[in-house]
Parts: sequence; structure tokens; C-alpha cells
Amino acid sequence: MWTHHELLVFLSTITYALAILGSASSPTRNPLSVSLTKRAAGDGEVIRGVNLGGWLLTEKWITPSLYESDTEDEWHLCADLGKKGCLSRLEDHWGSFFTRDDFEEIKEAGLNSLRIPIGYWAVDVRDDEPYVTGQYPYLIRAVNWAQELGLSVLLDLHGAPGSQNGQDNSGLIGEVSFPSNTSNADRALNVLKNLTEEFTKSEYGGVVTGIELLNEPRLSDTFTMAELKQFYTAGAETIWNVSSTMNVTIHDAFWGPQYWANYDPTSSASTASTETAQHLTLDSHQYYAFEPLNDLPHDVILESICNVSKLLKSSNLGIPPTIVGEWSLETGSAPNSTSSSQNRDNSQAKRTWFRLLFESQLAAYTPNGPNQPSIGWYYWTWKTDYDIDTWSYRRGVRQGYIPSDVGNSSTLAFPILDDGCVDSSYNYTAPRNPGSGATGSSARMPLSWTILAVLTLAIMIILI
Ligand SMILES: *[C@@H]1O[C@H](CO)[C@@H](O)[C@H](O)[C@H]1NC(C)=O
Ligand SMILES: *[C@@H]1O[C@H](CO)[C@@H](O)[C@H](O)[C@H]1NC(C)=O
Ligand SMILES: *[C@@H]1O[C@H](CO)[C@@H](O)[C@H](O)[C@H]1NC(C)=O
Ligand SMILES: *[C@@H]1O[C@H](CO)[C@@H](O)[C@H](O)[C@H]1NC(C)=O
Ligand SMILES: *[C@@H]1O[C@H](CO)[C@@H](O)[C@H](O)[C@H]1NC(C)=O
Ligand SMILES: *[C@@H]1O[C@H](CO)[C@@H](O)[C@H](O)[C@H]1NC(C)=O
Ligand SMILES: *[C@@H]1O[C@H](CO)[C@@H](O)[C@H](O)[C@H]1NC(C)=O
Ligand SMILES: *[C@@H]1O[C@H](CO)[C@@H](O)[C@H](O)[C@H]1NC(C)=O
Repeated sequence: MWTHHELLVFLSTITYALAILGSASSPTRNPLSVSLTKRAAGDGEVIRGVNLGGWLLTEKWITPSLYESDTEDEWHLCADLGKKGCLSRLEDHWGSFFTRDDFEEIKEAGLNSLRIPIGYWAVDVRDDEPYVTGQYPYLIRAVNWAQELGLSVLLDLHGAPGSQNGQDNSGLIGEVSFPSNTSNADRALNVLKNLTEEFTKSEYGGVVTGIELLNEPRLSDTFTMAELKQFYTAGAETIWNVSSTMNVTIHDAFWGPQYWANYDPTSSASTASTETAQHLTLDSHQYYAFEPLNDLPHDVILESICNVSKLLKSSNLGIPPTIVGEWSLETGSAPNSTSSSQNRDNSQAKRTWFRLLFESQLAAYTPNGPNQPSIGWYYWTWKTDYDIDTWSYRRGVRQGYIPSDVGNSSTLAFPILDDGCVDSSYNYTAPRNPGSGATGSSARMPLSWTILAVLTLAIMIILI
């Protein structure tokens, strides 16, 4: 999730300017006229999802408790612990960080989809790689729970052999070696093939509605767009050879949705198509946590979100169906393991701002009419060890700055203007007191109190 946004900002400004030429937008207030639940075009529900970040592929800032040693990524954590020690530590984590209770809480929050990041080593690991394998049964269990609860699933290859971005979220910090050796792409393709073959089996009931080829590839002189597209072509073919209707999701590589207009991975560049490929979806991450889009004044952030909103609602640009597969409420610094210190500020002002920032992005990443590229979103992420306020969706729900039922538009605070953006001048103030507890454990306090009360009563009755 570490990005170079310059190109994106540049391209989106130009395309956006072109897109709105001649279309005047009136600032009159208008109640949300299109339901948040149904996609206007009628082809399926709007995606309202969360990422299960830091689970089957760990990131130190999400679960610092796993990383007592001085290591910064899963590769080095396992190198440090040895395969046996690492397997035992990660098995505990896979079995406990996400349980069925989490899935139920996700469902109760009005969410309808999960994006599940995994590393290639869940399927294919070599002896000379320190990674351990054993995630797969947990993935299957997760898909089964999703099926029981009526949640759809987007599987996301978050870590590819050699690393596609050199960041902790790929499992290995350092060089971007993915493109340097074709065996890396071949191994990644085998993982994609495995996921498609496995999760199109009828026993999973079709809950896996998409497979993302590669998360956040970071392009450079040594990883060119041509190389990325070559991989996208092979990846799409690999998946569609197994299942011709599976949605293939491609990350925009931070070039912005408009760059991918009319893109068809199965046609060569020389025969550029004029129509977007079927069953292809685009993933464009939208963050205000990373340079140069961090530490911006609030009004600039809101204006930028509104610009993105208009782009994702432009039906005339040939942009493929697009999800915002990652976004959050962080607008300061990139996260690290100690940034939970910001949780101490529980002020009304902070919660008021978070609510506005959440609802602005909710409106921006949700379609409000037919034939728009936007098909929904996945927040990053459901939880972290300390439920960092800007990154933990469940913390937001518990504290009330994220709506308790995001699928129900009458629980939203801010009106939406004709241009599809929220009316940020609306006078909303968060409640004086935050919702129930601040962390996972304290949020469960009411239950312990209830049990205590029942026990006390029982003892009193016995004594009487
Ligand atoms: C590519 O990777 C494989 C497996 O690690 C290795 O055997 C091979 O030598 C590498 N090829 C190049 C050109 O680096
Ligand atoms: C995919 O890989 C997993 C883990 O190695 C394995 O258990 C499973 O059988 C494979 N599925 C298919 C369809 O190849
Ligand atoms: C592909 O995505 C669309 C839109 O989200 C959805 O309606 C459809 O069911 C998905 N296809 C499959 C095979 O899951
Ligand atoms: C897909 O299937 C076609 C036809 O069987 C085959 O020629 C092609 O090599 C396959 N592509 C991949 C990436 O598996
Ligand atoms: C929003 O788009 C407008 C019109 O293209 C542009 O002038 C403005 O700079 C953009 N604002 C931000 C914050 O990106
Ligand atoms: C982590 O966050 C803390 C608190 O915000 C900050 O003081 C520190 O410099 C950050 N560390 C890194 C490596 O970014
Ligand atoms: C939506 O929220 C409103 C306001 O809280 C509530 O009255 C209504 O029952 C909710 N509708 C559904 C379907 O949950
Ligand atoms: C906003 O509402 C509060 C009470 O809810 C009120 O005290 C305040 O004056 C209002 N501010 C504006 C600018 O209308």
C-alpha cells in the first residue's frame, strides 16, 4: 500500500477535466436517491467489503504481537524462527486472528464481501525459502463461513515470488525481483490456477466471485508496464481457461482507472480493443496516508475524494468495472506498530471528522446510477492488534464513527449532493460519548458484566 501517486494525480486530473467538460453540476441537496444495496444496472449487488489484512499473510504493523524479534516481514520472521518455530507461531495466528465470530460481526455491520490476501507460499513454497505453508485449510474454512453467512469473496494474490513491490505487504521487503526471472511468474500462475480450480468447485457455492492477479505491483525501469501486461494476459488466460466466467481482477499499478480504459488482457496491444473485456474488473487503491497525498488539509482531501467519485461515476470513459480494493481513514503518516498511540484521542472532533471522511469515501466508491465503472469497495482492514483508529473497521463501528449498518442508507449522517459527493458543509457532530469500548476486549465488557451479575444473583439465591 505504499505508492507513487504523482502519475495517478496527473492522469486523473486530466481525464477528470475531460470527463466533466460540458457537464454542469448543481450544488442543490438531494437525498440519496439510489439505494446502496442494488447496483442500478441490476447486475449484482454493490460490493461493500473489508479486507482480512494481516491474517494469512502477516504484516508487522497489523500484528506486532507476532513479531517479537527484530524482523520486519514474514520472510525474515520465519528465517529467524526456523520453519518449525514459525509454523507453530503462525498456526496459532491463523486459527485465532479471524474466527467465525469475526465473520458474523462483519455480516452484522452490513458488509457483504471479503477480500482475502494470501501469499504464494500458501500453495507453493521451496525448501530454500524460509516461508511456511499451512494457510490453505484456513482459507477453505473462511470461504465456507462466507458461504454460510452469505458473503462473497475476492481472493487476492498479495505476495508473489520474488516480491512484486518490495514491501512488507508482499512478505519480503527489498528488491522487486518478481520480473527478474520467468520462474517467478510461472509459479504465480500456478497459484492462480490452483485457486481457480479449487474455488470454482460446486461445494463452495460460487461465493468466490473474483481472483486478483497481483496486489500493488510497483513499476520501475526493471518492472515495466509491458512486463506487467504480459503477466496480466497470462494470468487472465490461466483463470479463464479453468473458468470462463470467473472475474479476473487486475490492480491499476497506481496508474489510475482511466489508464485501463478499454483494456482487454486477451487481445494484444497492436489490436487495441474498443470494448472492455467481459469478466474483467479493476482494483484502484485510494489512500491519503502515503506521500505525496498524506498530511493534506481536510478540505483538499474531501475535494480529491469528490474528484475520484466523479471519475468512478463517469460512464463514458470505457473504464472497466472498478472496485476500490483498499482505503482507510488514515490521512497522516503511514502506519507502524506504535501508531496505536493515536487511539488515545477519542474526542468528539476526531470522531466527527472520521464520520465525514468515511461517508465521503463511501459515497465516492459506491455507484449512484446505471452503467458506472464503480462496483463497490473493500476497506483496509477489519482489525489490527490494537485496533488502530484509522485502520480498524470494527473499531469505527464500535465507536460510532463508522455506521453500524453500512448497507442501510438511512443510518448515514451526511446528505449527498447532485454531483454524487457528500455535502461536507452539513452540520453534523458526533455524539459526545463514543460507542461501547475502545478495544476488542473492552467492547466485550458488557457481556462479562452480565455474566457477573447473573452469577451474583445465582449465589444470592443459593444463600437465601
Ligand atoms: C530463476 O530462478 C530459478 C529458481 O530459483 C533458478 O534456478 C534460476 O537459476 C533463476 N534464473 C535466473 C536467470 O536467474
Ligand atoms: C491447491 O493447493 C492446496 C495447497 O497446496 C492443495 O491442498 C489443494 O489441493 C490444491 N487445489 C487444487 C485444486 O489443486
Ligand atoms: C463477477 O462480478 C459481478 C459484479 O460484481 C457479479 O455479479 C458476478 O456474479 C461475478 N461473477 C462470478 C462468476 O462470480
Ligand atoms: C489456455 O488454453 C489454450 C487452449 O487450450 C492454450 O493454448 C493456452 O496455452 C492456455 N493458456 C494458459 C495460460 O494456460
Ligand atoms: C479536483 O479536480 C479539479 C478539476 O479537474 C482540479 O482543478 C482540482 O485541482 C482537483 N482537486 C484535487 C484536490 O485533486
Ligand atoms: C511510528 O509511529 C510513531 C508514532 O506516530 C512515530 O513516532 C515513529 O517515528 C514511527 N516510526 C516509523 C519507523 O515510521
Ligand atoms: C435502517 O435504519 C433505520 C434507521 O436506523 C431503521 O429504522 C430501519 O429499520 C433500518 N432498516 C433495515 C432494513 O434494517
Ligand atoms: C451546528 O449544530 C449545533 C447543534 O447541533 C449548533 O450549536 C451550532 O450552532 C450549529 N452550527 C452551525 C454553523 O449551524
